[in-house]
Amino acid sequence: MKKISFLLIFSFSIIFMLSAMKASNPYKKMDSIAEKVAVLYTANFYKFQEEVNALVLIANKPASLGKLKAVKEQVEKTRLSYKSVEFIFDYYQTFYNGAFINGAPLPKVSEYYEEGNVIEPCGLQALDEAVFEEVSQENNQHIKELAYKLKEKVDFVSNRHLPISLESSQIIECIRSGMVRIFTMGITGFDTPGSTNALKESYVSFESMETTFLLFEEGIHAEAEVKFKDIKSLFKKGKKMLKENTSFNDFDRMVFLKDIVNPLYSDLLDFQNLNKTELKPFKKHAQNYQAKNIFDINFINTDFYSELVYLPLDNPKTIQLGKLLFADPQLSNDNKMSCLSCHNPNKGFGDGLPKSLTNQKGVFTDRHSPSILNAGYSTRYFWDMREYNLEKQVMHVVNNDLEFNTDFDAIITKLNKDSKYLKLFKIAYGDISKQDINQRSVSNAIAAYVNSLKSLNSPFDKYVRYETNEYPEKAKRGFNLFMGKAMCGTCHFAPVFNGTVPPFYIESESEVLGITVGFDSIEPKLDKDLGRLSNGLKIDKNMYFKNSFKTVSVRNSDLTAPYMHNGSFETLEDVISFYNLGGGAGMGLSVENQTLSNAPLNLSKQEIKDIIAFIKTLTDTSVYDH
Ligand code: HEC
Ligand code: HEC
Repeated sequence: MKKISFLLIFSFSIIFMLSAMKASNPYKKMDSIAEKVAVLYTANFYKFQEEVNALVLIANKPASLGKLKAVKEQVEKTRLSYKSVEFIFDYYQTFYNGAFINGAPLPKVSEYYEEGNVIEPCGLQALDEAVFEEVSQENNQHIKELAYKLKEKVDFVSNRHLPISLESSQIIECIRSGMVRIFTMGITGFDTPGSTNALKESYVSFESMETTFLLFEEGIHAEAEVKFKDIKSLFKKGKKMLKENTSFNDFDRMVFLKDIVNPLYSDLLDFQNLNKTELKPFKKHAQNYQAKNIFDINFINTDFYSELVYLPLDNPKTIQLGKLLFADPQLSNDNKMSCLSCHNPNKGFGDGLPKSLTNQKGVFTDRHSPSILNAGYSTRYFWDMREYNLEKQVMHVVNNDLEFNTDFDAIITKLNKDSKYLKLFKIAYGDISKQDINQRSVSNAIAAYVNSLKSLNSPFDKYVRYETNEYPEKAKRGFNLFMGKAMCGTCHFAPVFNGTVPPFYIESESEVLGITVGFDSIEPKLDKDLGRLSNGLKIDKNMYFKNSFKTVSVRNSDLTAPYMHNGSFETLEDVISFYNLGGGAGMGLSVENQTLSNAPLNLSKQEIKDIIAFIKTLTDTSVYDH
């Protein structure tokens, strides 16, 4: 999967669509709905293309205040027209969308793209940001280039992407992932870094999904009629909520999630089943189609991240074996250190230290030991993102002079002398004739255990899954701040609140925050760790990744102080105060390419407390007893 370039996927999708068009479909009625949706979508796509053309005309004019105003208005119009096609476009053209049309305004250097091929920030989000900068020749030129580039890409894609042929089940899947997108990227402001026009845009997305869904009324199965009505009224209620609340900061994200987003997410699946719509999956992604709530334990399918493993990680026998290996000091050269030494269940699977003790007295690791709870929900591991594979991650510890300081041959020799392990490896891997104790089986068992450390049963999860009605008011306020005013949810994406990008969760992100050595707002000093830039991977050798670090989860953060890759933020207050000032750049430090906005958040002391109250409801240690 990793080596496939997006171009390949792109052309596959075209071939798929063409062949799908020719295939005869026994669901005749359904077919005509899909055709109607395709016609509507095509018309909307052309409208979007016209807005892009209009944008290019305006962007061509010389710089002036009046021009900037006109450009701003046209960017808003263009973005709004895009919102009516995005839920379908992004499903079929995820990579193209992320790279050129409406991805984060960051450089794209993905394992899915050609190696060494960096795509500079571009597209509708970059435009949303640029038109809110001050008038200058330079910015004028920048806007012009962005507009031209967008036109070039939209023209290219419209030639190849249209006409489109859709399947009914895929349309429903598009709407369901569209719900996830509105919740995680729309109402959080992720999508609108400059204008914060989030609610208006979400309204347009929401309404276009409603219009599309209502076409299913034709030829509906009798059993599905009640669901259809339920969904219809949920759309109506959701639109009302988005229309009536125009203040970005005051919008109640918790109510929107519990009353609108999750019920729709679940009802749409029920509707599909009741309406006997045959499931014809198109897209391979990590969202589990059968999940009924964005915070369900099975909402993200972690097997997606570990396709190339020795044996699927989701295996109770290997998990049990991995648990023993994880705690066994025999794996280290001097039989003193195990994974547990630095990933301790009593400390949220971190070690509570700024940096970890090594096998040499007085020497510490370069970085802070992160919690490995929920580590499986990621495409890259370590603060600098240097490893893609949870099995291979083990090797970094084994070979590290300061950690296990050994090699697999030595470990295998030791384990082969232990009758307990001979038996357990046979039980775990015997059925598939892989019972040998070797590098792959040892790594696989440990990875299976790490991957099993899922922690999604916190008081917060139970509340949003309707399993309890009890949830503190201050935590509700904190959640709304996290997903709104404080912008946390634009990097720590729901549901894991880490950097794995919704709505398809096929890639994890790193960011430049301008992390300091300790939190000192008076005399801040920049941390020198180069992060992702120096992780040894050719593909990441790009100045954009200087001081860039993995966006880790904030789940269980109450247990895992101190914080950040350098472990030098002692409390959650310090962490949030740092964000409140706009990170390193906001404190006046010169940080190249900081991706966190340097604008202050203006959070009050009480608001900071509320966010902490929310984070405290994300603690779940129930997985320890397994
Ligand atoms: C001496 C302390 C120490 C030991 C022993 C240790 N770790 Fe770690 N672990 C760390 C530190 C420090 C990091 C972060 C390093 C970095 O990102 O550069 C880390 C990172 C990780 C990560 C990446 C988490 C993420 O979300 O990216 C995983 C997974 C992990 N360790 C698992 C293990 C396993 C499995 C073992 C045993 C084979 C182990 N560790 C042993 C200190 C340790
Ligand atoms: C621009 C993206 C971005 C935004 C916005 C953001 N974070 Fe982070 N967050 C990160 C990254 C990246 C890290 C890891 C940074 C490092 O260690 O160098 C991190 C780390 C953290 C940690 C430390 C976790 C640990 O185990 O060490 C906490 C807690 C946290 N963020 C909470 C928040 C809160 C609360 C907000 C909103 C006020 C927020 N974040 C906003 C990207 C972001």
